[in-house]
Amino acid sequence: MAKCEHSVNKMSSHSLKTGSSIPQVQGTNDNSTLSKVSTSRVGYYKDPYLKYFTGCHKSPNRAPLIHWGYWIRYSAVNKTLIEFLTNLGNKDNQVISLGAGFDTAFFRLKSECGNVDLLKKCHYYEVDYPSVVARKQHFIDSVPKIKELAIGSNYDLIGCDITKLKDLEASLKGANVDGDTSTLLIAEVVLTYIQPKYVDKLLEWAASFFGKAVICVYEQIKPFDGFGQVMLKHFHTLSSPLLNIEMYSTSQSQCKRYENAGWSEVNSCDMNQLYFSLPEEIRKHVMSLEPFDEYEEWHLKCSHYHMITGFTSPQYWSSIMDPLSSSSNNDDEGISDVLEEWRALYLHTESQHLKRYGHDSVRFEDDKVLVYGGFGIKDHSLAHCRLDNAIMIKSNGEDWESKELIAGNDGPGPLMYHSMTLLPKSNEVILIGGRKSPKHSNEVLYSLSSCGTECNWRIIQYKGDCFKGRWRHSTTLVNDRWLVIIGGCAVNGHVFSDILLLDSIDWTMKKLPVSLPEGRHSHLAVNYKSSVLIFGGLNADLSPVSTCLQLSEDKSHLMAVEFIPQLPAKYSMSGHIISNDVLLMFGGVSISQHQSDIVIVNMQNRTWQGVNLKYPPTISLPLLHGHSSHLMDDGNVVCIGGGGNCFSFGTHLNESPLLIQCSKF
Ligand SMILES: C[S@@+](CC[C@H](N)C(=O)[O-])C[C@H]1O[C@@H](n2cnc3c(N)ncnc32)[C@H](O)[C@@H]1O
Repeated sequence: MAKCEHSVNKMSSHSLKTGSSIPQVQGTNDNSTLSKVSTSRVGYYKDPYLKYFTGCHKSPNRAPLIHWGYWIRYSAVNKTLIEFLTNLGNKDNQVISLGAGFDTAFFRLKSECGNVDLLKKCHYYEVDYPSVVARKQHFIDSVPKIKELAIGSNYDLIGCDITKLKDLEASLKGANVDGDTSTLLIAEVVLTYIQPKYVDKLLEWAASFFGKAVICVYEQIKPFDGFGQVMLKHFHTLSSPLLNIEMYSTSQSQCKRYENAGWSEVNSCDMNQLYFSLPEEIRKHVMSLEPFDEYEEWHLKCSHYHMITGFTSPQYWSSIMDPLSSSSNNDDEGISDVLEEWRALYLHTESQHLKRYGHDSVRFEDDKVLVYGGFGIKDHSLAHCRLDNAIMIKSNGEDWESKELIAGNDGPGPLMYHSMTLLPKSNEVILIGGRKSPKHSNEVLYSLSSCGTECNWRIIQYKGDCFKGRWRHSTTLVNDRWLVIIGGCAVNGHVFSDILLLDSIDWTMKKLPVSLPEGRHSHLAVNYKSSVLIFGGLNADLSPVSTCLQLSEDKSHLMAVEFIPQLPAKYSMSGHIISNDVLLMFGGVSISQHQSDIVIVNMQNRTWQGVNLKYPPTISLPLLHGHSSHLMDDGNVVCIGGGGNCFSFGTHLNESPLLIQCSKF
C-alpha cells in the first residue's frame, strides 16, 4: 500500500532550495488535523476517522470561527471531489491528492458510499513527504477499521517531494498512475508553501502529463490588506511562510498563472461565493451548531481563501464537469485611487487601554472621548478579555492621553457591541444593550455620568414597551431628546427588524409601527436633518445589505433612498455627516474582493465614491471594523480601537487611535 521512495535526509537538504522549513510545513498538517477533528466533533461534517491520526495529541476544542473556517474548506474541496466522482460514473478514473497530509476523504467516501459506490472505478493516490506518509501508514496500520478500508483496495500512499518532478513521475508511474485516465488533482493548502518556480514547474508538468485532468487548488489570497498582513505574519512566525501569495495575490493573477502553465477553463471562487452557493439548509444547520458572533472575521477569512479549478482537454470535460461558476456577489466596490488628502496617522499613546474592539464611545464638547467595554487588553498582564472599564481619553496633538475612571458603583460589567449615546444637555451617557457571551445579552438600560477621575452608573427605570436584549443594534439621538434604537441581533442568531423610540425626558420606550423591511444588525445609523439614515448592515442570512433607508422626522415612515450606482453592501462601519449633505462611512466589512477604506456618500445627488487611505509606510495596517470613530472639532476623524479575532491567526488589536485627515474635504 505505502510506497515511501525517498529518505528524510534527502528532503532536509532540499529545504534550503525551497526556502521554507520542511518540519514546519509538515507541522501545518498536524495543526489542521487537530482543527478538523474539533470541527467534526461539533457536527459541522462527519469524519469518524480523523481522530485516529492525531497520535498521542489530545485534540483541543477550537473556537467556533475556526470550525466555520475548516467546514468551508471541507465543503469547497469535497464539492469538487464528489462532483468529479459522481459525473465520471462508470469510467475509470484516478484522484491524486498532492500534499495530502492526514486527509481522510478516501476513508470517508469508502465507508459512506453505501449503494452508490463513488470509488468503484477510482484509484485514489495520496502523495506527501515520505516521513508524513510513514506516519500516516503507521496510524492506518494501528486502527483495524481504517486498515480494512485501505488494504487490497484502490488506495495508495506515495512518499515523495512533489517538487522533484522526475521522482514524482516515477513514483506515480510505479503505482500505476496513467496519464491518459481521467484524473482529479487536489492540492489543499499545499502549493502555497512551495517556492513559486517549483509550483510553476509542477503545474506545467501536470498539465502535460495528464491528458484529461481537473486540478483543484484551495489556498490563500489577498496578502496586502490588514487581514492579509495578519495572515502573512502568522505563517511567517510558524516558519511556514506563504511563498506564492505576494507574486499571485489575487484570484485573477492565479488564474492567469494556471493558464500560462497549460490549464484551460481556469476559474476561481472565493469562500464567500462558495458559502452562498451551498444549500440554505446546510448553512442554517451550521449556524445552529454553536453561538457565533464573529461575522466580520468570517467574511474576511472567506475573502482571503479561494479555490481554483482548471482543466486539460476541456472539450472532453465539457459534458462531464462544469467549470467553477463564480457568482457576482463579490464584484469590486468601485474604488478610486488613493487620494493624497486622505492621510491616516497613528496617534501616539502609551496606554494599552485603547487596544480593544466591539466597544463604543462618545465624544464630549471639549473633544474628550469616553470609551466603555469591548474585547481587548485590560491591564499590564496584556491578557485579552471582555472589558468592563471606562476610559476617558483626550487628544493632545498627535499624542493621546488616557485614564481609567474609577467606578463609584456597579455598572453593567464586561460588555461588547452595546451602544453609547451622549445626552448633551445633561452630559449623561446612555448605554443600551450589548452582550457578555453570545449566549447572554444585556436587557438593562444604564446611564453613566463622569466627573473628574470618577464615573457613576445608574439603572434607567423606563416605562412603556419592553426592551428586548440585543447587541450590534444602533442608537441615534434625534433633536437632543429621542433615542432611536434600530435592529440588532440576539441569542440563537435572532435578528431584529424593529425600531424603538426612547424618550430621554420622561423615559418612555415605544415600539414604532414601522419596522425594517428585513432584520439587520451592525448597520450604521446617523442623524440627518432630524431624520435617521440607516446604511448597510448584516441580515439573518449573513449577507451584507446595500440599502440606505430613511426614517422620517415624524418617525412614521421608512423610505428607501436610491443611489446610482447602488451603495456597497457592507456592515460594521462607523460614519459621520461631515458637511451639509456629505456623509463619510469609515471602514466596515463587505464580501467584495476589493473594498474601500472610506465611502464618501453625497445625499444631495445620491452618489458615492470609494477612497483608500494612505498610511505611513512603516506601520502595520489596521483592521477597519470593531472600532468607534468621532468627528473632532478640527474636522478630522479619530478612530478608536478596532480589530478582531482573526481565524487561527490570533487576535489582532489595532495599535493605537487613528487620525484621518479629512478636514480639507
Ligand atoms: C497544510 S497541510 C495540508 C494537508 C492536506 N492537504 C489537508 O488539507 O488536510 C500541507 C501538506 O503539504 C505537504 N507538503 C508541502 N510541501 C510538500 C512537498 N514539497 N512535497 C510533498 N508534500 C508537501 C506537507 O507535508 C503537509 O502535509
